[in-house]
Amino acid sequence: MTKPSFVCILALIAVAVSAAETKITVATDQPGKPISPNLVGVFFEDLNYAADGGLYGELVQNRSFEYSPTEQPQWGPLSFWDLVKLGGGDGSLRVQSARPIHADNPHYAILTVHNPGEGVGIRNGGFDGIPLRAGEDYEASFWAYQAFMNDMWGSNNKIEGRPMPVTLRLETKQGELLAEARLQVAGRQWQRLQAKLAPNRTVNDARLVLLAHAKGAFALDMVSLFPAKTFRNRANGLRADLAQAIADLKPKFMRFPGGCLVHGPGPHRYYDWKDSIGPVEQRRSQRNSWGYHQTLGLGYFEYFQFCEDIGAAPLPVVSAGVCCQHAGDSPNMGQEGLLLAEMPAYIQDILDLVEWANGSVTSKWGSKRAAAGHPEPFGLKYLGVGNEDAITPIFRERFKMIHEVLQAKHPEITVIGTVGPFASGEDYDNGWAFARELKLPMVDEHYYVSPRWFWDNLRRYDRYDRAGSKVYVGEYAAHDRNRRNTLRSALAEAAGLTCFERNGDVVSLASYAPLLARRHHTQWHPDLIYFNGTEVFLSANYYVQQLFGQNSGDICLDTRLSAEAVPPTLAASAVRDSMSGDLIVKVVNGASTPVSLDIQLPALPVAAGLEVIKTVLTGPELDAVNDDARPPVVKPEIARLTLKSTSGLEVPASSLLVLRFKQAFTSR
Ligand code: AHR
Repeated sequence: MTKPSFVCILALIAVAVSAAETKITVATDQPGKPISPNLVGVFFEDLNYAADGGLYGELVQNRSFEYSPTEQPQWGPLSFWDLVKLGGGDGSLRVQSARPIHADNPHYAILTVHNPGEGVGIRNGGFDGIPLRAGEDYEASFWAYQAFMNDMWGSNNKIEGRPMPVTLRLETKQGELLAEARLQVAGRQWQRLQAKLAPNRTVNDARLVLLAHAKGAFALDMVSLFPAKTFRNRANGLRADLAQAIADLKPKFMRFPGGCLVHGPGPHRYYDWKDSIGPVEQRRSQRNSWGYHQTLGLGYFEYFQFCEDIGAAPLPVVSAGVCCQHAGDSPNMGQEGLLLAEMPAYIQDILDLVEWANGSVTSKWGSKRAAAGHPEPFGLKYLGVGNEDAITPIFRERFKMIHEVLQAKHPEITVIGTVGPFASGEDYDNGWAFARELKLPMVDEHYYVSPRWFWDNLRRYDRYDRAGSKVYVGEYAAHDRNRRNTLRSALAEAAGLTCFERNGDVVSLASYAPLLARRHHTQWHPDLIYFNGTEVFLSANYYVQQLFGQNSGDICLDTRLSAEAVPPTLAASAVRDSMSGDLIVKVVNGASTPVSLDIQLPALPVAAGLEVIKTVLTGPELDAVNDDARPPVVKPEIARLTLKSTSGLEVPASSLLVLRFKQAFTSR
């Protein structure tokens, strides 16, 4: 007989070690500690075309002719528009600003038809083509007024009684007709024309065409196309599949609109929520900090309404009166504040936001919310002030002014401060010291770190002061090699979430970042949900967020592991959901060998049989990534079973196991 080699002996020891049972004792015989019932939420930032070309349902790109070279050097008001001349037609297209629909929407197009032929007009291919589904309705609309008929100069140019006939059509890239409507542009005043279009075929890269059929000229703005079926069928609504993917996370809150977007690239370039409400044709669209255009069609009303639709508490973030420290092309040196004389007006804008969200319909700003279709208050409870700002005297002075007024006038609002961009360091330390000084109710921590970091920091919040400011982990993600959405990164985040849950008396809120990314228009990797015009791709990390979102609780039960490896590769947490009486145990196995578990549940009638929903999230290897072109390799598998014993439960290699014991406490 040959002797076993040294390698074989090591392998045998490894098998023996992994085969040994790890005992987890969940203190089901104790009352447990109350934790935040709102722990897992989402953070929506208009980054990676998350809003326009993403969640916002608008299918036309540059609908209001406001694109500009400050966004992309090659862009201008006519970007993404083509002049179309059919069947001998001739005409021209130019940009004007003399007579806009509204001062905050300054540019519009003038289409002049010299010879109508079979039609002269404009064409838009949306965001990488307009996706259309046969049998569904689309709401096309545009604003227009007649400039003149026939020739520009001369006595036959009057418009009275001679409207401009136009057709609105959807067509393929090859020009084949999919749907058409006939309309007339009449009169010198701006007016909105609309038509329903029902394409006869499903096409992923269609175009919207507006053709004029008489000699003359008219002004055009806000050329728009929406699917009739938006999320919850809202007007000016959201793309249904993307909104549903977010809703399926069961987020308890939504932070918006940023991120860096909020404090902006200059002291006066912050995201002004007032620009984002009211009729869409009156909103001030602008460059967004991520180098493209934001229409603000998805604005505060739409954010708040979406929150309400999905049962998430709204968490808007406003600038702290300072711009980003990286502004003005000056990394770390760019922070500038509003002048102190400007601060009262700025603070009033913040107070107006609270009134807009929560005020009565008779209040100035509450009446605007009501006019938009929501007389009931939105129930704003949280307000973020600042984002990753350097904690300088400029920042401190302005933050303090805002906080003092909010505290005095709106003690019901939880003000969330900021402690810089990292998990430690100068801004973190100074931010926390400042939070203690002001006795802030909550601060926002951010960290984009390696998967290993999450495992090494499982005890991070165990040490936090229970009587101090609460923590909102507003942005976090595990950045693996090449910033890919690997199973390794997802499990590290799951381990982090067990830590947040165990410390849910200190960590009140947590949201992965960033949320959405349009393929080929992405400025930041990794993200939670990827998409193109027609498909939504869910990352491994998405499923982790979903499992924690769907399996949240309000009481945390102590969990003890019999043996903790160093470095740790096993993390666990247990919560009780008082509403359902369910016990939920989550175990993350970061090692590439399975673990056999013995879960002790004192005082629970295990031997009588417990109904369990068992969910396992795993994949073929730690490097596994869900690929757009194939079915996801990392996705949850769900089984229902009755357990009469909780020993010998396998946690597969590289997995997240969620055991939901149905009505475990009510059946006692
Ligand atoms: O989530 C992406 C960016 O990361 C956010 O805008 C910013 O707050 C952070 O630096």
